[in-house]
Amino acid sequence: MTLVHTISEVRSCIAAARREGKSIGLVPTMGALHEGHLTLVRRAREQCDFVAVSIFVNPTQFGPSEDFTKYPRTLEADSDMCREVGVDLIFAPNAQEMYPEGFDACVEVGGLTQMLEGEFRPTHFRGVTTVCAKLFNIFQPTRAYFGRKDYQQLQVITKMVRDLDMPLEIVPVDIVRESDGLALSSRNRYLSADERSAALILSRSIDAARCAFRSGERSAAAIQSLVRSRLNSEPLAKTDYAVVVDAETLLPIEAIDRPAVVLLAVRIGATRLIDNTILLPPQSV
Ligand code: PAJ
Repeated sequence: MTLVHTISEVRSCIAAARREGKSIGLVPTMGALHEGHLTLVRRAREQCDFVAVSIFVNPTQFGPSEDFTKYPRTLEADSDMCREVGVDLIFAPNAQEMYPEGFDACVEVGGLTQMLEGEFRPTHFRGVTTVCAKLFNIFQPTRAYFGRKDYQQLQVITKMVRDLDMPLEIVPVDIVRESDGLALSSRNRYLSADERSAALILSRSIDAARCAFRSGERSAAAIQSLVRSRLNSEPLAKTDYAVVVDAETLLPIEAIDRPAVVLLAVRIGATRLIDNTILLPPQSV
């Protein structure tokens, strides 16, 4: 495994792999790696000849009052984990390498980025799409791997790639959870013991939604209010949003007669957590 910090080193490693006819899999991350990230890497390992992981806490996707400075940075542990799962190349640039003096470009997707996370984090998706566009240009991967954990992000990236004809495949990977249901997240390490228990309200609310849906409930409003009342039952939880929307457009729907998604963003103390689940009516499978 090679660890590099500059774009030119990435380009020469990738060129060498390409000369050997290898397909390239890229897993973009902000580090503080956990089993969720490693699941993406393993999928890449199965499908690609050469697997690269980028580790970059991207400043442009954090709002001014967000956790950029305290976001965990654990490059040594991350490298060990990557080595164990068979990563070929880690790219861990600093901000200067990605955004040198005078950097003044951005990639922005409309529509999808305005709602939900976009409402609470107005510049977030512009930061995500810009850094991912840069990474796609740097690596020119055959495939890039994204978790369904960040559902809206996955939709936004998929739209960017489609709208701008970027020549790669976006591979979605299911959410990895702790055994008690909490979705793995680098931010879980901020939670105190009490907050960690309270955080279970996200997956429990999602389970309640799935259960109602399985029992035949098809009203988006009914499932939405069920989820909201569950979330409200936890005193440590403050809901930013909890919605049931069309799984592709993320626009409100009345009846769940096509794929829908339950999307949650909840603050537990100072930690903001997101979670989701897809609801697939049987005829749309
Ligand atoms: P980060 O939060 O580090 O996540 C990197 C990738 O891991 C994302 O695609 C995310 O959806 C996936 N992931 C995280 N937790 C997961 C879980 N429990 N199950 C499945 N997948 C999970 O998302 C970002 O970084 C950044 O926005 C990035 C795309 C790297 C751009 O800076």
